[in-house]
Amino acid sequence: MTQNTSSAVMQQRSEPHDSLDDFPTPPWATRALCEWLVARGFSLGDMTCREPAANRGFMVRELEDFFASVAASDVHDYGAGYPHRDYLLGPSDRTDWTITNPPFRLAADFIRTALAFSDVGCAVLVRSAFLEGVGRYGSLFCATPPSDVLQFVERVPMVKGRYDPGASTATSYCWLVWNQRATTQDTRLHWIAPCRKRLEPLCHAESRSDVNVWSVFKWWTKS
Ligand SMILES: C[S@@+](CC[C@H](N)C(=O)[O-])C[C@H]1O[C@@H](n2cnc3c(N)ncnc32)[C@H](O)[C@@H]1O
Repeated sequence: MTQNTSSAVMQQRSEPHDSLDDFPTPPWATRALCEWLVARGFSLGDMTCREPAANRGFMVRELEDFFASVAASDVHDYGAGYPHRDYLLGPSDRTDWTITNPPFRLAADFIRTALAFSDVGCAVLVRSAFLEGVGRYGSLFCATPPSDVLQFVERVPMVKGRYDPGASTATSYCWLVWNQRATTQDTRLHWIAPCRKRLEPLCHAESRSDVNVWSVFKWWTKS
């Protein structure tokens, strides 16, 4: 596997200021969060979830395995059939959880909106570098620190415009969780132990390279 050094995946990746941040999310990273929430005692099967930056649905399909229902939308049409909504205009109803991978430049606004409309909690997958910055500390973390930071020890490669399980990256990612039921304002740091190999086979077929290669092979041998 070769290191992908394109500007899209490096720590300093630069996107145009008005970019939608079209970076589909490796599905196993979502399952890692859901497993962590279940282990913490959240009965996700009795709860609702919103994914407001659903893109092509890589996160949504995994969330649907854990939650009673998932409301998905995105501001742009990627052909997945989700309603088109600008999340920052505010959702029309409340939800138990909001879980998403927001565009980097709008992540703080997404988090503020999610906190205002989620009864149990919200979780966002962000570059670990999102935790630093004087401005963001003052406008977000100082008053509303996450209850938990879940740092991936494995890399979570994201490629612009498609899901590529073979990609690599120099960028570090973590989940930031705001548990609205937390009793203190302390932030706890956790590591997500290596889990990609175990979780990938559980992910939905559309997201798995082995299944896709197998379907092409079957189609080719039949024709
Ligand atoms: C990093 S991608 C999300 C990937 C997605 N969660 C997945 O499972 O693959 C960021 C997404 O945010 C969407 N987006 C950008 N601005 C938005 C807004 N104001 N409201 C809703 N979605 C927005 C983009 O269209 C893009 O699909």
